[in-house]
Amino acid sequence: MRQKIIAGNWKMNGSQSFIDDFSSQLQPEIEKLSERVKVVLAPPAVYLQQLGDAFSGSGLGLGAQNVAQDDKGAFTGEISAAMLSDIGVEYCLVGHSERRTLYSETDQMVVAKVAQLIEKKIIPVLCVGETLAERDADQAELVVRAQLEAVLSAFSDVELASMVIAYEPVWAIGTGKTATPEIAQAMHAFIRSVVADKSASLAERCAILYGGSVSVATAAELFGQLDIDGGLVGGASLKADDFKKICESMD
Ligand code: PGA
Repeated sequence: MRQKIIAGNWKMNGSQSFIDDFSSQLQPEIEKLSERVKVVLAPPAVYLQQLGDAFSGSGLGLGAQNVAQDDKGAFTGEISAAMLSDIGVEYCLVGHSERRTLYSETDQMVVAKVAQLIEKKIIPVLCVGETLAERDADQAELVVRAQLEAVLSAFSDVELASMVIAYEPVWAIGTGKTATPEIAQAMHAFIRSVVADKSASLAERCAILYGGSVSVATAAELFGQLDIDGGLVGGASLKADDFKKICESMD
């Protein structure tokens, strides 16, 4: 059985008081949920420690949104995988489309970041997905395959054993336009087949999350698809009640 994961990506949102409110509402729930689904939250880096402390003992997985591609030294403003590991981070997003587009993150940088994470035993959550123009031009699979293969070809199956993949069509992120369960399932099956070209057992074990406007209304049907093992949730993960309901809709 593949692990089911719901990860909340807070992006550049939140504050100390927000975390106090959020954790007081969700702490006991996460503990109950943790038997059937791994719940992960990725707040801005400055709040990782506070969030980790607030949910300590609940089974919540602490997630970072980004990591440096180098291990240490003169890289002003960067945070290393060792530092994330030092404060208990277990998961880290890599290659989110906002980083790829707004910060020019290339596949090569994604590979360097994944290498840092693997070295520190932090689980990479590799984000892939096509833009609307690419989908309209029938290039969706081509784009997603290239993003996947950059990472798959750089590491061994053993190194990638814990990797999580998140399929996030760029046109669905923050737009309210969720991919239909059929579109999402088709791409998830394709992603699994690309991973299987490298290793069938890796493909079988690899959790593939869907992301892009996941909401209380759309979560259950998406999570019911054969190759959808959970969600990467942005906007809705900032509303404690919605996030709880989304986690509960995973069976
Ligand atoms: P969204 O964001 O749920 O707000 O669309 C998802 C993400 O970017 O991870």
